[in-house]
Amino acid sequence: MSGFLETSSRIWLTGATSGIGEALARQLIKDGHSLVVTGRRQSALDELASLAPDRVSGARADTTSTAELGQIDPVLTAGAPLDLAILNAGTCEYLDVSQFDSELIGRNIETNVMGTVRSVERVLPHLRRTRAQGRPAALVIVGSSAWWFPFGRAEGYGSSKAALAYFAQSLRADLAREGIEVFLVSPGFVKTPLTDRNDFPMPFLIEADEAASRIIQGLKKGHHTIEFPRRFTWTLRLLGNLPQGLIDRMAARMARNTPQEN
Ligand SMILES: NC(=O)c1ccc[n+]([C@@H]2O[C@H](COP(=O)([O-])OP(=O)(O)OC[C@H]3O[C@@H](n4cnc5c(N)ncnc54)[C@H](OP(=O)(O)O)[C@@H]3O)[C@@H](O)[C@H]2O)c1
Repeated sequence: MSGFLETSSRIWLTGATSGIGEALARQLIKDGHSLVVTGRRQSALDELASLAPDRVSGARADTTSTAELGQIDPVLTAGAPLDLAILNAGTCEYLDVSQFDSELIGRNIETNVMGTVRSVERVLPHLRRTRAQGRPAALVIVGSSAWWFPFGRAEGYGSSKAALAYFAQSLRADLAREGIEVFLVSPGFVKTPLTDRNDFPMPFLIEADEAASRIIQGLKKGHHTIEFPRRFTWTLRLLGNLPQGLIDRMAARMARNTPQEN
């Protein structure tokens, strides 16, 4: 397994404007890498670009729009070949089952699955060009550990991240022959604007800076599966491997104790 980020690299990072993505952007900029940063909020992109104007370019795009992603292609093309694409943009909306809403589930899937899939479509030709020059190239897909256990209200978010994990692993198999590596990141709870909205206890919550460091360490070590914090992901793996009847009873009890949204 090869390691990344040991030398100065050129990286496309989506979801760079807040939370885990912003923490990652700041650490990668500090470490001397060159970045193309993407999100929908131009002011946040400008702020990141101002940290190192010669190495950081803002490329505003909504990842649910093929047209907007197409418009940033010149920015991805400019400069050195891309070594890494870190596809981190994501959203989380919880379902109130008493007001079942397919649109809400669709929004989770549109952003988390199709937004990532569209980004892969945009960046693959760039990574192929990098490989053609004999350089390592990789896709990093930010999933979640949330889908390892059937949490109530997470029908949309959990199913989107389950789909994304399968997508990443299947893509890893297909791209292996081209030498394009695929990393899957599965965080537990991280304190960000996304989780600040949560109204339930979040065990083993970590700061976004720690999450960013864990991702960078994993990439440097060439770990294609990056899961953290261990005390959370190990507990969840253990729970997820219990007999199904037991999982169902625990999940139903937890769902009863979780407040529904108003
Ligand atoms: N926080 C956690 O506990 C946790 C746990 C597991 C996995 N994750 C995953 O980690 C990733 C980052 O989450 P976070 O907690 O850092 O959330 P966050 O602070 O809400 O950040 C989400 C990022 O995604 C961008 N984004 C969202 N929708 C987008 C769209 N349609 N087009 C382009 N950019 C979009 C946002 O940028 P704009 O607002 O500028 O568009 C923002 O930069 C997500 O994939 C999330 O599912 C988070």
